[in-house]
Amino acid sequence: MATELKVKDLHKFFGRKQVLNGVDFTVETGHIAALVGPNGAGKSTIMKAILGLITTNGGEVTIAGHAVSITSHQELDNVGALIEYPGIYPFLTGRQHLDLFVTGTKAVKKAKIDWVVQAMQMGGYIDTKAKSYSLGMKQKLGIAQALLNRPKLVILDEPMNGLDPQAVKNLRDVIVSLAKGGTTFLISSHILSELEKLADTVLMLNGGRIVQQTTMHELQNAGTKVFTIHTVDDEGARAALINQGIQILPGNKTIAIALTEEDSLDKALRALINVNVTITGVNQVKHDLEGSFLDMIKSGEAK
Ligand SMILES: Nc1ncnc2c1ncn2[C@@H]1O[C@H](COP(=O)(O)OP(=O)(O)OP(=O)(O)O)[C@@H](O)[C@H]1O
Ligand SMILES: [Mg+2]
Repeated sequence: MATELKVKDLHKFFGRKQVLNGVDFTVETGHIAALVGPNGAGKSTIMKAILGLITTNGGEVTIAGHAVSITSHQELDNVGALIEYPGIYPFLTGRQHLDLFVTGTKAVKKAKIDWVVQAMQMGGYIDTKAKSYSLGMKQKLGIAQALLNRPKLVILDEPMNGLDPQAVKNLRDVIVSLAKGGTTFLISSHILSELEKLADTVLMLNGGRIVQQTTMHELQNAGTKVFTIHTVDDEGARAALINQGIQILPGNKTIAIALTEEDSLDKALRALINVNVTITGVNQVKHDLEGSFLDMIKSGEAK
């Protein structure tokens, strides 16, 4: 599979403060990569470095096999981005903003603008001046500018900022459908549950480095599966499980068992049914992105 974005050994100091200390990662073509890390970890800084907006103190950025730097940025013609806050001119309409950035023949320009206005659901206000826009409306316009020219690589810093749930879902659908068509995305967000629905690659940034590059699939399947079992008689249920030698995880108010063997859950449920304990629910405790994120920060603090 082709690599769309490669960041190698990126270093960045602001004054004497080192923010990036050897950042390495790759994003494959058509993939959606989530860049996660605590406030101040350097997510926006990485994105600015990729776009050649800031100087770095060493490292390489390659887009579609071409090196990018502050002096060599041809490849950036194929990149769309929204970093931190959208730049909005209050006295221009949304459509005039798009007119400033759109490329192509007259017909192509019109088609691109019509597409993005429809995709981002901005038809209701695209011809009014941006000074009257709400936070979310400005944010949608900023994302529209990033997507407008159908770039091969799209970099979005906190794109869900200020968007209502319906707009978040709509944006997710737009991103997923563009990625299916081969567009590559690098997205940072604090709404981890949103990234979880969206991203296939996870890049965890902490202490100036990518401490983990993994797939969402691997992350969600990492570790032992744990199930909670809910019954009408938890006391009786606990006794029945212990009686059968089934280990109950300590420290939980609800009954939790680890799936140490393939049939652990099956054995536990049979043990309960045999003693006529009514089971009202069984849930798998998901090992989610938020859990992994908090683990990462904790392990960083421990160092
Ligand atoms: N222009 C600058 N001058 C000095 N320090 C800066 C500058 N830009 C960023 N920094 C510092 O670099 C670090 C990383 O900032 P960055 O904005 O990349 O973090 P972030 O991961 O995007 O955080 P957030 O989640 O809050 O958006 C911070 O400690 C910040 O104070
Ligand atoms: Mg940031």
